[in-house]
Amino acid sequence: MITPPETQTPLLDHVDMRMVTADEPGNDWDRNSLVKLDPDHPGFRDQDYRARRNAIAEIAMRYRPGSPIPAAPYTDLEHGVWRTIWEALGPAHREHACAEYLECIRLLNFDSDRIPQLDEVSRKVEAISGFRLEPVAGLVQPRVFLESPARGIFLSTQYIRHHSTPLYTPEPDVAHEIIGHAVTLASKRFAELNRLFGEAVTRARDASGLDRLSRIYWFTIEFGVLREDGKVKAYGTGLLSSAGELAEMHKAELRPLDLEAAENLVYDPTHYQAMLFCADSFDQMYEMLREYLRQKV
Ligand SMILES: [Fe+2]
Repeated sequence: MITPPETQTPLLDHVDMRMVTADEPGNDWDRNSLVKLDPDHPGFRDQDYRARRNAIAEIAMRYRPGSPIPAAPYTDLEHGVWRTIWEALGPAHREHACAEYLECIRLLNFDSDRIPQLDEVSRKVEAISGFRLEPVAGLVQPRVFLESPARGIFLSTQYIRHHSTPLYTPEPDVAHEIIGHAVTLASKRFAELNRLFGEAVTRARDASGLDRLSRIYWFTIEFGVLREDGKVKAYGTGLLSSAGELAEMHKAELRPLDLEAAENLVYDPTHYQAMLFCADSFDQMYEMLREYLRQKV
């Protein structure tokens, strides 16, 4: 396994910047807004990587909803990144993932040696829960991202993180999307919660309503934990796609799941989460979140 450089520890590998800012008036981003690589992005100086990112971004920009998703041109190095991620995540999942997630992993039966193409993942997930994946070039407006599940669609990036840092990414990549989000969407109950999120966001007409729902999404869908057989297990996609954060999860302060509190809490997306909301059981989380989202106007 390749160790990330010291300056790029896997501390940030869960980061999902989509959740950080609510949409603002006058912001004209659309679902195909391109990610501009920062000078400190691991792939900034790799021209081949950047060319491949652009080619993959073009797939998203030309994509017509409902049609098959064209295959991304991953290299052997990039398939190696996927392999390294799975080598780290396999044992971490067995130890820390909730039963619902482990069952989804079993159903989807990924090849640990090769990045699955979005199209094949989407077909498998759709057959189970009706959810489809659609490619996006990079970051999209939080409202666009969070409303899509109302239509049974998860907007997914298709590029993979740079091969020099297989356990670190400063942005959501296909590993986070598939291992985190797509896997959970192979559960009918998770799929229902995602759909209810989309519907609640669609009803929230102002920025503060969207902000509150973004925080609930963060503390549940991204970073939720629950108790199972006396142990704390992860159901949040940000945790489940980060071996580093799963291993550190027990250090977080645990609070009983409280959605009224969560909707007003500010979180820090740049570090492992210092506090997690822990449900008493999967059923409690499912029912509490479902009721909250149904009633949210
Ligand atoms: Fe995410």
